[in-house]
Amino acid sequence: MDIATDADLAQQFRAAMRRLAATVTVVTTREGDEHHGMAATAVTSLSVDPPSLLVCVNQSASMHDIVHRRQAFCINILGQQHGPLCEAFGGKLAGAERFKVGDWAEDDGGLRYLTDAPANIFCVMEQHHRYATHTIFIGRVQRIRLADQSDPLLYYAGGIGRFMPT
Ligand SMILES: Cc1cc2nc3c(=O)[nH]c(=O)nc-3n(C[C@H](O)[C@H](O)[C@H](O)COP(=O)(O)O)c2cc1C
Repeated sequence: MDIATDADLAQQFRAAMRRLAATVTVVTTREGDEHHGMAATAVTSLSVDPPSLLVCVNQSASMHDIVHRRQAFCINILGQQHGPLCEAFGGKLAGAERFKVGDWAEDDGGLRYLTDAPANIFCVMEQHHRYATHTIFIGRVQRIRLADQSDPLLYYAGGIGRFMPT
């Protein structure tokens, strides 16, 4: 394998990341009466004791500073039926318009969650770490809603699809 020059590396990195399939989620948070949400695949389990995860959010994303201030967010894992949400929350729609796609409710803490998601994971933000363009938010899990069944919406090579067991 060739060693890339600096000039090539970003392009090759993008190409390599297109080969990293990931489940699509929508991260939600809230400030006052305003709800915010965006599509995110950079979500990773961190530890079971305590239950915790991380999500990487671009510092230019409109919800970035709100997660920072509010210190709470919900990870809504998307299922096969949620392709339109991936588009809407991925930037096709803006602000409150996004929540017109999908069936949303509010938990006791006021965070919006997708009622028919395979799972909703409610977190308090315990730590954050800024790196380059992004911030890693570490969420400590407070509560989980689980659907009986799960057929995840996967993002791969710039498109969405379905998990197929080998
Ligand atoms: C499938 C998919 C996955 C994404 N994953 C992330 C992610 O993990 N982190 C991130 O900061 N943006 C991610 N984005 C981009 C944001 O969802 C998008 O830029 C969004 O419009 C940001 O919200 P804003 O327009 O309100 O700033 C993803 C977009 C898509 C379509």
